[in-house]
Amino acid sequence: MLRTHTCGQLRKSDVGTEVTLCGWVESKRDHGGAVFIDLRDRYGLTQVVVGPPEAGSELIDEAGRVASESVILIRGKVTDRLEGKVNEKLATGEIEVRSSHFEILNSCETPPFTPSQSDLPGEDLRLKYRFLDLRRGEMQRAMFLRSKIVKSMRDYFEKHDFIDVETPILGRSTPEGARDYLVPSRVHPTSFYALPQSPQLYKQILMVAGFDRYVQVAKCFRDEDLRADRQPEFTQLDVEMSFVDADDVMGLIDGLVAESAKAVLGKEISTPLPRMTYSEAMRRFGSDAPDLRFGMEIVDITSIAKKTEFRVFRGTADSGGFVRGIAVKDAASKYSRRQIDELTEYVKGDFGAKGLAWFRVEDDGTLWSPISKNFDPEHLAEIKTLLAGEPGDLLMFLADTWEVTCKGLAGLRKRLAGELGLIDKDALHCSWVTEFPMFDRDEESGRWVAMHHPFTAPLTSDLPLLEEDPQDCRAQAYDLVINGSEAGGGTIRIHDPATQSKVFDLLGIDEETAEDRFGFLLNALKYGAPPHGGIALGIDRWVMLFAGLENIREVIAFPKTQKATDLMTEAPGQVDKEQLAELQLRTVKAKKD
Ligand code: AMO
Ligand code: AMP
Repeated sequence: MLRTHTCGQLRKSDVGTEVTLCGWVESKRDHGGAVFIDLRDRYGLTQVVVGPPEAGSELIDEAGRVASESVILIRGKVTDRLEGKVNEKLATGEIEVRSSHFEILNSCETPPFTPSQSDLPGEDLRLKYRFLDLRRGEMQRAMFLRSKIVKSMRDYFEKHDFIDVETPILGRSTPEGARDYLVPSRVHPTSFYALPQSPQLYKQILMVAGFDRYVQVAKCFRDEDLRADRQPEFTQLDVEMSFVDADDVMGLIDGLVAESAKAVLGKEISTPLPRMTYSEAMRRFGSDAPDLRFGMEIVDITSIAKKTEFRVFRGTADSGGFVRGIAVKDAASKYSRRQIDELTEYVKGDFGAKGLAWFRVEDDGTLWSPISKNFDPEHLAEIKTLLAGEPGDLLMFLADTWEVTCKGLAGLRKRLAGELGLIDKDALHCSWVTEFPMFDRDEESGRWVAMHHPFTAPLTSDLPLLEEDPQDCRAQAYDLVINGSEAGGGTIRIHDPATQSKVFDLLGIDEETAEDRFGFLLNALKYGAPPHGGIALGIDRWVMLFAGLENIREVIAFPKTQKATDLMTEAPGQVDKEQLAELQLRTVKAKKD
């Protein structure tokens, strides 16, 4: 090793020792004949003094000229800092190293930003110069947290007899519902591999192969619209188990959540984690990933709306729609008319609501609103009682379809909780949402699509509904929700061919297509497939949530932008004509309309 110690290691007990340190010049101060350097590595900062009598004037001049972020090596003696100069905030703050040897291992060009500057540069610049950005304390902490979380996961699964099996990256298309990333085959021109959207099919086949308990830290690739919590390339902690039901899988993950939160954050999380069905989640929170760090539950007032004279409420209720709302505690004085207008525009613009009806609970307990004259006082009183409104509260309502009231009120809940500071940033709230519907209607085609994937088993009690009423058929599916984000999802799989073919029928997947797309899985299922099920946890999201961050890119070393590009390597990029020729591919520019 070039160095004897790291920059985070030296303490008062080391005073008098000769040491060699290597690191980056975080900052440099010239104090009349002596140069003070804060030397940084991943372990910490140490103050180095290049000055007399240890250093001669040549060395002092050289230190004075060193550019920040250069990599240097220094040798010298650990000494006590002068009285009054101790830095309590720094682990090495009681000492400094007086340098007798100073060597620039590599100087640094003027960087576009420095890791220690207090104002963060724009994200594009950070991504382009990721190597500088990753030197920042915050990024380093995120990367170490990530490493710790993955280790805690690996430790947990090893303890529970899981075997880690790698599955291919070059494979067939998998059915997670996003677009595939395709890789052309040179050996088989016009044929393509698909990068895995998840190892779903392989892990099921591993169960048929008798591995019983499989785990993998798996890269997944999905070409979908990106958001703050989505990347085109992300990492799952992928799990599959044989001879289990949904309770077994959730129970196992309960243990993981508790152990990981304890090991990584020192947080106690009591298990079993709370569970709620999908239908309850939609009814109470309008979302299948409800944020349970605060209340503000949705209340349905459709039955009262039917009795009122207010055209919007009555019309919606009479035509089979819903009137639902939330009570926002103590918000009346905090939201001006203009701000309520902004909220109205928000629910209209983002969720397609037609408007936002609101009431203020007055000091005398009556409800006031620009629309209150359209209501009988007794109906207003009923509304207030149902929402448990108290003086100073704002009551807000949407009259619309079930879907719009769910989405709009879930959006309002989230926005208002943020604005009103109702969210405890230190809380890590973990829970399950269970019994998702098997199917969803594709709005464009009107066809059924699998809500999770086509191998998901229905609840045994709902099997008859596959034929009678697919809409109401529920799945043996479960999502792990952390602080209002979907942090994992899984299902028990279908292992009998009759149910599988019924589900394919409903999804409009005929025998030939099924054979073509997942023939290898269906074939394997014929050769003694045990009952099985599993789950995949989004590791990037876990780290983001454990770190209390809101952007997944902050916990990925080399993430892609919202436009799926890597600004550092400039991927995706052009390839040579020869490469295309070998693949027998030609690129054609799409015509602009
Ligand atoms: P699912 O599609 O629900 O299930 O994915 C599991 C978890 O992966 C995370 N995730 C993502 N994270 C970042 N960027 C993305 N684009 C992204 N997409 C998903 C989420 C999600 O909960 N094969 C099934 C699992 C199973 O049934 O066992 C699957 O992949 O946290
Ligand atoms: P209007 O009669 O359209 O002027 O609406 C009167 C009030 O009711 C306005 O505050 C609207 O924002 C609100 N409003 C209109 N449509 C709806 C709706 N579908 N749900 C909730 N509030 C609505």
